[in-house]
Amino acid sequence: MRNIAPPKTYRIESFGCQMNVYDGERMAEMLAEHGISAAAEGEDADLVVLNTCHIREKAAEKIYSRIGRLTKKKAQPPLIAVAGCVAQAEGEEIMTRAPAVSMVVGPQAYHRLPAMLERAVAGQRSTDTDMPADAKFAALPQRRKSAPSAFLTVQEGCDKFCTYCVVPYTRGAEISRPFKELVAEAERLVEAGAREITLLGQNVNAWRGEDLAGRAVGLAGLIRALAAMPDLARIRYTTSHPADMDTAAGAALIAAHGEVDKLMPYLHLPVQSGSDRILKAMNRSHTAGSYLKLLERFRAARPDLALSGDFIVGFPGETDAEFEETLELVDAVGYAQAFSFKYSPRPGTPAATMDDQIAAQVMDERLQRLQAHLNRDQLAFNQASVGKTCAVLVERKGKLPGQWLGKSPWLQSVHFTGEAAIGDLVTTRLVEAMGSSLGGELVRP
Ligand code: SAH
Ligand code: SF4
Ligand code: F3S
Repeated sequence: MRNIAPPKTYRIESFGCQMNVYDGERMAEMLAEHGISAAAEGEDADLVVLNTCHIREKAAEKIYSRIGRLTKKKAQPPLIAVAGCVAQAEGEEIMTRAPAVSMVVGPQAYHRLPAMLERAVAGQRSTDTDMPADAKFAALPQRRKSAPSAFLTVQEGCDKFCTYCVVPYTRGAEISRPFKELVAEAERLVEAGAREITLLGQNVNAWRGEDLAGRAVGLAGLIRALAAMPDLARIRYTTSHPADMDTAAGAALIAAHGEVDKLMPYLHLPVQSGSDRILKAMNRSHTAGSYLKLLERFRAARPDLALSGDFIVGFPGETDAEFEETLELVDAVGYAQAFSFKYSPRPGTPAATMDDQIAAQVMDERLQRLQAHLNRDQLAFNQASVGKTCAVLVERKGKLPGQWLGKSPWLQSVHFTGEAAIGDLVTTRLVEAMGSSLGGELVRP
């Protein structure tokens, strides 16, 4: 065993969902607190944290090639920590397969990274994939910096056990962070510059808590409390599950969309398939019909709502006719945005050992057809926005001189040129629609 110089600089590479982005930010803050600073763009870091995703096969395999590139032909390779969902699912395997990795830390244990780092510097490798309920957040440092659009994890884990999915195993059981703790973190984020907060959870609408008066509240109660913060302009939430919408708390959330101005007109509600037989085999606890009814209720509360969804093609046993039902559902909804994937068999999930796994070529064809429908609808949604005047939250500079990039209320990327600064909410007229973005013109107040 040899001692290694304590790292001075770090880089965190986050893959996967927004919850990993949030965890990456929290790890960065913790490392900064321990005197390790972010490596400059293009510079080698002394410590690299790979914050991984296990959701599909490709996502997990990426990690090993990344480790290879980080250590290849390096006289002084960086210390490497593997965090996130691959760490949780394959911790032991990583340790055996990748000797260059000195730390493996799961998504519920990363508050203990500094202690693991001390051991790594002393030449000891360690793994921590414990799932202590709710201990992590209390152990993390206060928020000090924020981009105009900030993430705030309010709920973690999943009890739904869809037959294709690893999340219940990598993130553990559903937990809700306490109301008070979340309001405090939101206040810190706003003081640090956030104008928009996106509440995150694997099933964010399963969030439950007690408000300051001790009343039981669901996500709508939390949203209403945050909306009362004067300097916070926008609230969003993701990802929702249809089963947690068909409840009293869900009804309150639908109502909030019609009543809370700061709650943005956007809903990401994954459906996965339009076939009831496939939905049942997926253990989704909703039907295509019950999903469409939910959307009707949302649209009644907020007619201009932009809809987004997730889709899986080629689930085991999916027939051509069942795939056609997915296309029919897509055509019926008219999504503003969507995420679609080929089914990927994941170790330890029931679907991985089901009969009738679908051939890769069939999946490719289905994905292409589905994406053609989704792209058509996204363009149509963007085209229908042309002529509207709306607020854009400026998030960064564009590629051209004087150009800025931001988001519309419907989460469309909008670029415009003119006088503005990061964090401004500017009024723009949408003048041009592309497939995945819009051109806008500043409107002088
Ligand atoms: N909790 C969220 C989704 C989390 S995972 C929900 O239930 O909606 C994000 C998306 O990845 C899922 O919605 C699904 O579309 C996709 N996904 C999950 N497991 C997958 C698998 N094994 N193969 C392909 N796509 C998958
Ligand atoms: Fe995965 Fe289903 Fe849970 Fe979403 S609800 S995280 S798809 S098991
Ligand atoms: Fe991936 Fe884990 Fe998120 S598997 S999608 S990083 S919860």
